Amino acid sequence: MNKKQLSELLNSLTLKQKIGQLFQSPGVAYNDDATATGVTYLPWLNSDTVENAGSTLNIFDNKKLRQIQKNHLKKNPVPLLFMADIINGYRLVFPSSIAQGCSFNPDLAQKAAKITAYEASKCGVSVTFSPMIDVARDARWGRISEGYGETALLNKDFGVANVKGYQGDDLSSDDTIAACVKHFAAYGATYDGRDYNEAQISQNTLKSVYLPPFEACIKAGARLIMPSFNTINGIPCTANKKLLKDTLRDKWKFDGVVISDYGAIKETADIGGAKDYAETAKMSLECGVDIDMVSESYYFNLEKLVENGEVDEKLIDQAVMRVLMLKNDLGILDDPYKYIKEEFDNFDFSSEQHEDFAKDFVCQSSVLLKNEGELPLNKKDDIAFIGPFSVINELMTNWSRVTPHRDKGISIEQALAQKFGKNKFSCIKGSKFAQPEIRSVKLEKFENASPSQEELIKQAVSKAKESKKVVLFLGEHKDLFGEATSRSDISLPKPQKELFDAVYEVNKNITVVLFAGRPLEIKDISQKSKALLYVWFPGTYGAEAIVDMLFGDAVPSGKLDMTLPQCIGQVPIFCEKPVPSHYSASIEGGIKHAYSCRWIDVTNYPLYPFGYGLSYTEFEYSDIKISADTMTRDEKITVSVDVTNKGGVDAYETVQMYIRDVVTPYLSTPLKTLKAYKKVFIKQGETAKVCFEINEEMLKYYNIDNEYISENGEFKVFVGANSAEDNFVKFTLK
Ligand code: GLC
Repeated sequence: MNKKQLSELLNSLTLKQKIGQLFQSPGVAYNDDATATGVTYLPWLNSDTVENAGSTLNIFDNKKLRQIQKNHLKKNPVPLLFMADIINGYRLVFPSSIAQGCSFNPDLAQKAAKITAYEASKCGVSVTFSPMIDVARDARWGRISEGYGETALLNKDFGVANVKGYQGDDLSSDDTIAACVKHFAAYGATYDGRDYNEAQISQNTLKSVYLPPFEACIKAGARLIMPSFNTINGIPCTANKKLLKDTLRDKWKFDGVVISDYGAIKETADIGGAKDYAETAKMSLECGVDIDMVSESYYFNLEKLVENGEVDEKLIDQAVMRVLMLKNDLGILDDPYKYIKEEFDNFDFSSEQHEDFAKDFVCQSSVLLKNEGELPLNKKDDIAFIGPFSVINELMTNWSRVTPHRDKGISIEQALAQKFGKNKFSCIKGSKFAQPEIRSVKLEKFENASPSQEELIKQAVSKAKESKKVVLFLGEHKDLFGEATSRSDISLPKPQKELFDAVYEVNKNITVVLFAGRPLEIKDISQKSKALLYVWFPGTYGAEAIVDMLFGDAVPSGKLDMTLPQCIGQVPIFCEKPVPSHYSASIEGGIKHAYSCRWIDVTNYPLYPFGYGLSYTEFEYSDIKISADTMTRDEKITVSVDVTNKGGVDAYETVQMYIRDVVTPYLSTPLKTLKAYKKVFIKQGETAKVCFEINEEMLKYYNIDNEYISENGEFKVFVGANSAEDNFVKFTLK
């Protein structure tokens, strides 16, 4: 349809039908096997809300979707839009986002998003609530696994890559879907790491850390955005005029669709942010929230508000037009069955090329933190494979449960048999996943079966005793992180620590493969094991890729996108920390005298710094150079470094560049900010010259008056293998 036809369609709708376009009903209103992803307000769903709804979410069955659409169109001139949480993959599930960020390779994320759109668009999905680009620095937060780590730059680069991958160049194509970036904004900045809470942050921090990834995704063409559940300094994001109107609509010129999070508009009234659902509906609509996801606020109140003159119908028309434009660009106004064609019902998604790509993505996202000659393993050795993660499949986050068509993949045990034959290696569970008091109901059922924890440990110890080496597959079960799953204790669950200690008693040649949704407290394990591979949640092909890495048929090349703390007491700890205010002695964190910025019971340094990761080869950095030692605002300078592969295998290395403004009146300016990175493949024995360009934009920050400026003076440029390294060059901005 063209603009004129869209206006005619809009004007043909009754007020109730228009308001219906601004309501998203839960999938369970149409279909019992839809996946519920929040509290569902069922009582009123039998009224005409369902008939007039403009969209719904998380229903996956083409035949049922065709019937739902057919029934809908009997009563409503505008087709239903089917949205879904397709997170990190549809059938083929890729590594979790926090793992993907460790690849420092957004091109891989773009390709993964493209494959995801290709698959999801054959199963009714036209909009995905992805990418999530919440900068997160608090390991207690359950949703830290969904974003791309602690820096604005990685969340920005991976967010843009996902938007391009999902949407491609043509939203009307059969293989693309619309991206909904979330959660806007600072959801990961809640002051105590708990979900649905307050983020107390300065305007400077909001603008320099949490907003840039969203601005970049909007500029990249994301068609939807979802405000977050949290408040920013007391103002709910779903009714935050500064955020949604002044910044998003007026400053960034966003004319896409704003869809609330699940029930969030209603929740504003429930928590006392508005006197009733009519007021919260008015507040959010006036802030530019177009679609009310699941709560009954818009549907049951806007008509009355218009009739008694409290809401201008023009506001509703603007919101409805944005929804109609989205549906039009997706092609469903011309063909309501575009994403649910009968020919898609038995679509063959299999693709060896996609599967090989997924395995490579796992290897590029896995972080080798320690290796004292233990890896790669030799298949001739007598090796015990032990741990709860060695005997289960579905090594993916809980978000994958939303898509019933996901390929759960195989277990480590099955991958070993696939690679070496059935009788070569066996796996034993060795321990329960978690102690009863933190198990979810689902996990409880799974864990209650025999054998007991004692029996499991006994089996593990006897196997470890008779083996030359042990590989332990440990970590945080997927039910222990995610939405509404923050933890005050980020250590390895007790039963698994018990397993580690028992095995360590009888065998010191331990490699640990760690599965986690967040940075865990692993100091003791890290000190006692000889090798440590952090794989996060690797997805459908995780097991095969991990076994290939363990035996050297693939090389891990991930680097941490999150700082790993010594202990929970250091959290939040991150590389882009502000300068300590006084008596900092050495601002990098070293202590020269008692009066220093420090804890008396733990070092200032993390266990592993942001950007850290080893390889099966060694890289040597040399000859760091800068093209000029002064720079004016309209000039650019270049920093270069030589990186030599000194080891015996060809491998990737991620070279990182951080900048420090050495003297600044605004001490919130971070000590080191990641400004650029390059992942280069270097053959053994060869040297690569890696160059970075520095421009004025990289030197800017928000000053005390919230002006975005750069100031004259000295800057240090750190170039190296991670954020803790100290090789730098200097220049002066004049
Ligand atoms: C959830 C999540 C959001 C998700 C939405 C729809 O509460 O916060 O990330 O996209 O509801 O399932």
